[in-house]
Amino acid sequence: MPTSNRILNLFVIVFVFIAKLHSISCSAIFSSDPYAQQQLDRISKLPGQNFNVSFAHYAGYVTVNNESGRALFYWFFEADEDPSSKPIVLWLNGGPGCSSIAYGLAEEIGPFHIEEDGKTLYLNPYSWTKAANILFLDSPVGVGFSYSNITNDQLNNGDKRTAADNLEFLLEWFKRFPQYKGRDFYITGESYAGHYVPQLSQAIVRHNHKNGEVIINLKGFMVGNALTDDFHDYLGLFQFMWSVGMISDETFKQLNVFCDSQSFIHTSGPCDKVLDIADEEIGDIDMYSIFTPPCTANFNRFSRLLKQKKKVGLIRRAYDPCTEQHSTVYFNLPEVQNVLHVHKKNSPSKWETCSEEVNENWKDTPMSVLDIYRELIPLGLRIWIFSGDTDAVIPVTSTRYSIDALNLPTTSPWRAWYDDGQVGGWTQEYNGLTFVTVRGAGHEVALHKPKQALTLIKSYLSGNSMPKLKQVSDL
Ligand SMILES: *[C@@H]1O[C@H](CO)[C@@H](O)[C@H](O)[C@H]1NC(C)=O
Ligand SMILES: *[C@@H]1O[C@H](CO)[C@@H](O)[C@H](O)[C@H]1NC(C)=O
Ligand SMILES: *[C@@H]1O[C@H](CO)[C@@H](O)[C@H](O)[C@H]1NC(C)=O
Repeated sequence: MPTSNRILNLFVIVFVFIAKLHSISCSAIFSSDPYAQQQLDRISKLPGQNFNVSFAHYAGYVTVNNESGRALFYWFFEADEDPSSKPIVLWLNGGPGCSSIAYGLAEEIGPFHIEEDGKTLYLNPYSWTKAANILFLDSPVGVGFSYSNITNDQLNNGDKRTAADNLEFLLEWFKRFPQYKGRDFYITGESYAGHYVPQLSQAIVRHNHKNGEVIINLKGFMVGNALTDDFHDYLGLFQFMWSVGMISDETFKQLNVFCDSQSFIHTSGPCDKVLDIADEEIGDIDMYSIFTPPCTANFNRFSRLLKQKKKVGLIRRAYDPCTEQHSTVYFNLPEVQNVLHVHKKNSPSKWETCSEEVNENWKDTPMSVLDIYRELIPLGLRIWIFSGDTDAVIPVTSTRYSIDALNLPTTSPWRAWYDDGQVGGWTQEYNGLTFVTVRGAGHEVALHKPKQALTLIKSYLSGNSMPKLKQVSDL
């Protein structure tokens, strides 16, 4: 670290220390100089981190609405190497109600993952910080450490407010990190973020157009196992469950009769009944990764606590409840929250991986976001959709039906892609959209296939097709 940098850090540490001595609460520390505020958000070392890292990282709040006092929590990691030349990738988890810190950061693409003890960190060798600067955002309010100062405001969330607040977040975030203004910017996410990601992209495009400015230099977006179009997603889900042999012929038929035109997150009574029958038939498996054992098989001491009712179409729980347990312990440690600059007085009293309250009170959810794809594809954004092919929540068949509904001409036909000589999955390129499957990955692709997921983000950011099998002559 250059000396000047170290002095600046020292200054910040002393400043924070003095502020604490004078018992000014953390939230009162605010500097109007963006670089000073940035340094206040900087994290030196986390509890349980027994190693040094080469990259800088920052966490804190950005106010997205002054009147209500809505503030979103972010954690930003500079790329391992050469951050000043790399793009920024924003990662969003879905739910609705799930934390991007809990899933994206701590068990998928982030540099820090948590050991079984819930106290110790280890470095993820396949972190996406090897390819880009990564910004994790907990949205909307009521999720993770994000909050609103209006009582029970976590009951007023929906797709519309989430997109508007996330746009506000980015505009304010770039004020705090002005050195990144205009940098190539990409949005990624999975599951219900299949709504958030295109909706935020649309909001940015419209904002840039209206204001004639490109502070947020959006170049494209990529979503995985993404809720896209309720009709086609359900069609594909029922077909997937039937074809892998999880449900009976009779239930398959009934699902297609009673559930085919339903909203994915708010189902009707008759459809619910058939979904319950399907649940019974499926038995106790992990819908997020159908060929791997559920957590209860390995961690009997937790089984009673965690045995939640599994439900077809439930998209908030993530693959491994055991992994979730580790982050629930870690992010509830007061010493961890201090280092992360959490506003303890205002943020939700207990940190949860997913908020049921947010999920159950969701206000607006369109049945389809395909219209946004139709609006954005002609603008030349780089749009990729990927799918872990052993997920039975939003399976590969759902995504294929949804893409098919866009009627895009094929530019490069279906083929296998390779990772170290093995088929990593399959890919097809359309005019304006690239589709990639990841073989053997569940709902959280980077959790199950971290190496292949890193290959995916590298190909995406470089603008190249997924790797082909290297011919002997190439070697
Ligand atoms: C981390 O860096 C500090 C300061 O340079 C050094 O004292 C310490 O030994 C390093 N720790 C590890 C685990 O390398
Ligand atoms: C909140 O107010 C501050 C100070 O006036 C301003 O800089 C900021 O842009 C406002 N935030 C939003 C989200 O409007
Ligand atoms: C929420 O209210 C507290 C005081 O109760 C204040 O310190 C904090 O800045 C407010 N948050 C926002 C985002 O306005």
